[in-house]
Amino acid sequence: MSAVPYRVENGVAVLTIDNPPVNAASRAVRVGIVDGIKQAGADASVKAIVLIGGGRTFIAGADIREFGQQLQPPHFPDVIDALEASTKPVVAALHGTALGGGFEFALSCHYRVAIASAKVGLPEVNLGLLPGAGGTQRLPRIVGAAKALDMILGGKPIGADEALKLGLIEQIVAGKTQPELEAGAIAFARERAAVAGPHPRARDRVDKIQGTDPALFDEVRAKNAKKWAGRLAEFKIVECVQAAVEKKTFDEGSAVERDNFVILRASAQSKALRYAFFAEREAAKIPGLPDDVKPREIKSAAVIGAGTMGGGIAMCFANAGVAVQMLDASQAAIDAGIARVRGNYATSVARGSTPQDRADKALGLISTTTRYEDIAQADIVVEAVFEDMKVKHDVFGALDRVMKPGAILATNTSTLDIDGIASSTKRPEDVIGTHFFSPANVMKLQENVRGAKSSAQTIASVMALAKTLGKVPVLAGNCHGFIGNRILYVYGRECDFMLEEGATPWQVDRALQAFGFPMGVYLMRDLAGLDVGWSVRKGREATRDKSLRYSPVADRICEMGRFGQKTGAGYYKYEGRNATPDPEIEKLIESVSVELGVPRRAVTDEQIVTRVLSAMANEGAKILAEGIAIRASDIDVTYLYGYGFPRHQGGPMFWAEEQGLAKVLETVQRYHAEQGVLWTPAPLLVERAAAGKGWTG
Ligand SMILES: NC(=O)c1ccc[n+]([C@@H]2O[C@H](COP(=O)([O-])OP(=O)(O)OC[C@H]3O[C@@H](n4cnc5c(N)ncnc54)[C@H](O)[C@@H]3O)[C@@H](O)[C@H]2O)c1
Repeated sequence: MSAVPYRVENGVAVLTIDNPPVNAASRAVRVGIVDGIKQAGADASVKAIVLIGGGRTFIAGADIREFGQQLQPPHFPDVIDALEASTKPVVAALHGTALGGGFEFALSCHYRVAIASAKVGLPEVNLGLLPGAGGTQRLPRIVGAAKALDMILGGKPIGADEALKLGLIEQIVAGKTQPELEAGAIAFARERAAVAGPHPRARDRVDKIQGTDPALFDEVRAKNAKKWAGRLAEFKIVECVQAAVEKKTFDEGSAVERDNFVILRASAQSKALRYAFFAEREAAKIPGLPDDVKPREIKSAAVIGAGTMGGGIAMCFANAGVAVQMLDASQAAIDAGIARVRGNYATSVARGSTPQDRADKALGLISTTTRYEDIAQADIVVEAVFEDMKVKHDVFGALDRVMKPGAILATNTSTLDIDGIASSTKRPEDVIGTHFFSPANVMKLQENVRGAKSSAQTIASVMALAKTLGKVPVLAGNCHGFIGNRILYVYGRECDFMLEEGATPWQVDRALQAFGFPMGVYLMRDLAGLDVGWSVRKGREATRDKSLRYSPVADRICEMGRFGQKTGAGYYKYEGRNATPDPEIEKLIESVSVELGVPRRAVTDEQIVTRVLSAMANEGAKILAEGIAIRASDIDVTYLYGYGFPRHQGGPMFWAEEQGLAKVLETVQRYHAEQGVLWTPAPLLVERAAAGKGWTG
């Protein structure tokens, strides 16, 4: 059976791609299209050809499973040549999503029609690639270079309406279903077949690229220089679209595209981005949950605490269309909380990221109360009160008394013991952590934390909730800091030690930013505020293990009344949001080095990155061995979505595997010898390195 069955209807050959679930352009599909075009060409009764997806979509992209492998012919360009060379008009009929290689096939057809719900786009950049089957050459010829850059660099699909306006499709076919699309496409094909050829080919057009402003490409590079620091694909894409405009012929431009595609396909960055794509999918799977477990339906929610996090979490529910009540201890706290939520919506409306009507609708779903009885019927409660076990106990005691049976009782705690919190209820099976990240309405990660008694259904429910809220879930086990903050602690600790050993905050930040973090650790701390951590440290001072190395630099900075951006000074000096290095802090750090007897030496940027990442991977290995993370890739997903880890670097565990675990172990052992017990090599790292393996397999 062909993956592209061929039939003739009313003088039109219909090639129907049949490769469920998304009609990916795998080899069988490529063979089927080439054969179908040949057959139609040879059949005198055929006047035109329609290429259409069976089921729910056109070709949604290349077959991602083939990415790491040597592709078997026919290759994408062979299919494109076949489509383009047809003397009979070829019409691509689009529904569902026509993406990547699939959309490139469509672009090489003579005509495109779609139903109104169809989406088209070139998302390759998200995998560190570029559209390598002529997309960078044909798209600018149809929509102009500036719009083509927008679409290819943005990697986001557009709807049929916009595609029609841009001239990417010729017609929106009436109807909603695949059979209606097919009927419309056949009628359209017959009309075009009646007109004498040759039929239009994107490759022959110059009208849209002729007047391109030659400065466009440098402008785009300059505008994005900061955002694209260290990235490859974006720059290659600009180069290709520039070639489409500036090279004399289509084929010369295509050669530039081909060369760059080959470079990107083999690049470490694309490997990391493809890994991240699969890691995210994998993280949603929880081994050991019974097959028949059904998530509880969540139609209403309540949030306890209308502070920074509570407000953000309420916005998440409202944005997803779930009615949510915010409860706080006093009316004053409620008023402040709702004002902050309103302010957040006003900012995003002003910025153009949320339309006014959507903001109004979301705000309409948020209500407030100070009485627990009012929230009794909510399907889920997320607690986001002060990070204090006593307060959490009071709140969960109250929830236990009022909430309807079967309600999920979730906590947003960053560090506290989930079982301790659950023990203040008589229903620990319904209690679980749902750890959101600040700002909660923006950050994608939802680190769910299971307690010892959380039921399978409770776990499944919060994993499903993340999908409803548009978040990426990871399931963590219960320990101090869970996955994310436990590793963050190690990360910050090593940066602090490097300050005492000779680095400056600005050097550490610069090195981390060059690696790809959007913000270095000290800029980040200054932004978040230094006082919260200080008060936590003061609370723990009496019980801190004094035999372990401890850096007092952060405390000293707070003692100077410097709490970060909000006080105009922290690690840096601030004018508004602009940070500048402060010689006073450098002096302070040097004096701490002298006081502690730590010799100062030159620290290189490379040492900074290697030390931080090796420490993170070593802690990650401990987390993995303890079962706190289900798989190494879950740790990476946590870092990619919750901590701004650069996606093109894959995550700390991926980074370690790419370095080679033996090499990472060597670094860990070297620091262990130099620094002592804080660097004790994780047994799992030792074991995997000795076996010459990665984290899995
Ligand atoms: N701020 C962050 O970046 C962040 C990130 C992740 C998780 N968290 C966690 O989220 C929780 C809340 O943090 P936040 O930054 O939003 O704090 P916050 O101080 O901004 O807000 C806490 C809110 O809880 C209210 N509250 C206190 N006790 C209460 C009670 N008994 N009943 C009802 N309301 C009460 C307060 O009035 C306040 O409005 C903490 O557990 C924190 O560890 C914070």
